[in-house]
Amino acid sequence: MEKYNGKRALVTGGSSGIGLSIARLLAAGGARVMVTGRKEAALEAAREEGLVAVRSDATSKADIDALAGKAEEAFGRLDAVFLNAGITDSVSFEATTEQTYDAVFAANTKGPYFTLQRLLPLLAEGSGVVLTTSISNVLGQLDHSVYAASKAALRSMTRTWARELLPRGVRVNAVSPGPIDTGILHKNLPAEVADEMLAGFAAQIPMLRIGNPEEVARAAVFFAFDATYTTGAELAVDGGGTQL
Ligand SMILES: NC(=O)c1ccc[n+]([C@@H]2O[C@H](COP(=O)([O-])OP(=O)(O)OC[C@H]3O[C@@H](n4cnc5c(N)ncnc54)[C@H](OP(=O)(O)O)[C@@H]3O)[C@@H](O)[C@H]2O)c1
Repeated sequence: MEKYNGKRALVTGGSSGIGLSIARLLAAGGARVMVTGRKEAALEAAREEGLVAVRSDATSKADIDALAGKAEEAFGRLDAVFLNAGITDSVSFEATTEQTYDAVFAANTKGPYFTLQRLLPLLAEGSGVVLTTSISNVLGQLDHSVYAASKAALRSMTRTWARELLPRGVRVNAVSPGPIDTGILHKNLPAEVADEMLAGFAAQIPMLRIGNPEEVARAAVFFAFDATYTTGAELAVDGGGTQL
């Protein structure tokens, strides 16, 4: 029998990168998995892999409401929710506009907040919620003031929700990735430029390498299903970057 047979999971931002790795790991173990994203081509590719893919913008309250309806219709209840959709931004403090600030907080903080609020009635007893934060939330990195703050807010919500959802038997934890190669650099830059950038990032990490999405996925899935005596915690998946 497969490990996640009969389990029902929702992964926001599950159409690519870390979220897609989470979805694949669960599906390979027999779970039924719904993923979200905005780009239809990536959603279609996810459907071809056997995932239930729903176009849903995390910054739209109407989309969030519709997503909860679709999850209920498809699965009834949920055993795991991965609040993973997010955008990265790197802009200096001086150059940050109100528009950038609002867009990053809308996607990274407000979206997960209202998504979980809307999904609460669907969470089964003993279910696990896992947020994707970032090591930026404990670092003072150049040009990351808004992104880091949006993820620090998520870290805080992880603790408060963990407390508030205790009576429902729901655990809430977070995975905090360091630099992870989701292929984005190679998609957008010439291969040699992308390689050089990744080598530069790797040199800063104690393990001297960038992580891969599957390594984050394993930590996230552990929190959702195996970490039955853990709530309110955050696990750094960062090659030792914030720990050594
Ligand atoms: N990669 C890293 O080094 C790293 C490090 C620390 C933290 N993280 C965090 O990890 C999470 C996943 O990132 P990733 O690296 O896997 O990036 P990715 O490959 O770009 O995946 C992001 C996913 O989120 C979706 N998404 C983005 N904005 C959305 C919105 N408004 N509504 C719905 N879906 C949305 C994307 O789909 P669409 O584009 O189609 O909407 C995609 O499925 C993010 O929260 C990111 O901040 C990543």
